[in-house]
Amino acid sequence: MTRPLFMAVALAATLFGGACSKNEPEPEAQPAAESRRERVAAEPALDPTTGLIMAQNWEIVRANCTPCHSAKLITQQRGTAEQWLTMIRWMQAKQNLWPFDEHTERRIITYLADNYAPDAARRRAAIPAALMPPNPYSSTE
Ligand code: HEC
Repeated sequence: MTRPLFMAVALAATLFGGACSKNEPEPEAQPAAESRRERVAAEPALDPTTGLIMAQNWEIVRANCTPCHSAKLITQQRGTAEQWLTMIRWMQAKQNLWPFDEHTERRIITYLADNYAPDAARRRAAIPAALMPPNPYSSTE
């Protein structure tokens, strides 16, 4: 590998790491009666048809979120409650998604934020330092 490629990889890692850490200590947007740990199964079963995680309220999401597009758009996405709400508001404004009553919307958002969250457990483990290219910006080398 040439030096400029090393630098590009290191820079990408720096930028990516920085962007992710901003999401880290996000507090639960809506305090729920049960904790997220209680609502989310350790080994979630997937609906064979849509691929949605069959956790609490998944049928409401299937009914409201799969008529226009594949559930893959959802299962490939990650977001906090706030980010999911932003996507829903965008579809309501631009894509003819119907409005939800408050109760339904809260269930949908809670399901999405619980099961498709940007949390550390879903991210790959950090690459061991020994496998990383030399950091051209390090002050310790
Ligand atoms: C009335 C139609 C409609 C319904 C119902 C609908 N969506 Fe969408 N959604 C769209 C359209 C149109 C797009 C853009 C598709 C594309 O870019 O190809 C989209 C895109 C998306 C994306 C991708 C956004 C991105 O940034 O790439 C996600 C995630 C998503 N929808 C989630 C949902 C969820 C969750 C629900 C249920 C609350 C839902 N959708 C219900 C029309 C709908």
